[in-house]
Amino acid sequence: MKTLIKNAKIVGISASRPKETDILIDSEKIANIDSGISPKGADRVIDVTGKIVMPALMDMHVHLREPGREDKEDIKTGTRAALAGGFGSVLAMPNTEPAIDSKEIVRYLKDKIKEEACVDVFLSAAITKGRQGNELSDVEGLAKEGIKAITDDGDSVESSQLMLEAFKKAKENNIVVICHSEDKTLSKQGVLNLGFSSTCLGLRGIPKSAEFMRVARDIKLAEKADAKVHIAHVSCKESIEVIAKAKKKGIKVSAETAPHYFSLSEEDLWNFDTNKKINPPLRNEEDILAIKQALADGVIDVIASDHAPHTENEKDIEFERAEFGTIGLETELAVAFTELIKKNVLSWQELIDKFLISPAKILGIKKSLIKVGASADLIIFDPNKEWKVSKKSFYSKSKNSCFLGRKLQGKIERVFYKGK
Ligand code: DOR
Ligand code: ZN
Repeated sequence: MKTLIKNAKIVGISASRPKETDILIDSEKIANIDSGISPKGADRVIDVTGKIVMPALMDMHVHLREPGREDKEDIKTGTRAALAGGFGSVLAMPNTEPAIDSKEIVRYLKDKIKEEACVDVFLSAAITKGRQGNELSDVEGLAKEGIKAITDDGDSVESSQLMLEAFKKAKENNIVVICHSEDKTLSKQGVLNLGFSSTCLGLRGIPKSAEFMRVARDIKLAEKADAKVHIAHVSCKESIEVIAKAKKKGIKVSAETAPHYFSLSEEDLWNFDTNKKINPPLRNEEDILAIKQALADGVIDVIASDHAPHTENEKDIEFERAEFGTIGLETELAVAFTELIKKNVLSWQELIDKFLISPAKILGIKKSLIKVGASADLIIFDPNKEWKVSKKSFYSKSKNSCFLGRKLQGKIERVFYKGK
């Protein structure tokens, strides 16, 4: 099968390329990139004048919920959502039931992924057995099975001693430790940011110190072990200050934020919308500005969704009882385009960096941009289309999006994965 894409404006490759060009896909691969490729011999021709073509992206923070919580999401529906969102690869989080903490579970999942996934799924494994924070998982055995990172995401490892051991093991096995930064003695039973909104709404607050104190500890421990540390879902200015300082010092730290942290604030919770109940919580305007600045100046390396599907029973209840988390795979590119590119925070090249080049580098995964001979994994994106996020539009099994009802600029028109 040969597909010819005409008049593509490609982003995410060297600036020396002509602005408008054609791309020929031959079965799984990109066979040619040139202006004026003849349509002779092509099975189909797609004219994409005015649209943007970019490589399929990578989301390094996705909860696929398998095994055990297939009522929320599974490999099939989660990867279908990833594909619809423009992602050719995802890193699955291990806070499943049971947790991904043994070679046996990893092997089981690899077989399932082969059968059911429609994009590349990479696995992370729990730092501690059962994510209980008491005993290290078999990091070496798990690394041999091909996991790309260890994390107790959803929780932080309380014991600093155990965390130091984890960093040492991760270094020996050349993988990164992904940190969910939360000091539970500070976040306690909080359900949203501690501040004006929590006071007015009469709900328990989570202080920013619960996050930045733990960010600081984990970076210190990583430094001591000379290991790679990745700070997941950064939500506040103070964490950014800690990370910036560590980067200056040459510590091997990378950082990630999610679209809701640069597009929503605690004030969006005044209607008690449980889809906006997320951990860490939505913060304030000054944090949004700091996150945008950190994305622009490179202190934050990665944008990832923290796609956290939950059932209606777990969300359509009182705010204090609802689960934390929002789905995000199918909205994140449009949110990033609307909030970052349209507002001149990032260029397209920088956005591809946050959504593909940096995560691939952090996880040690080889991914190529759009070039001849590469796998034909690409997105056709219409920057002029405006759309409203609705439950109907989601492929994800769960519909708990914090962006429901929001108008976004830019829509994915088509995604190619391995030429299909
Ligand atoms: O809001 C969140 N939901 N934050 C996390 O860290 C975990 C996630 C989940 O698994 O639902
Ligand atoms: Zn987390």
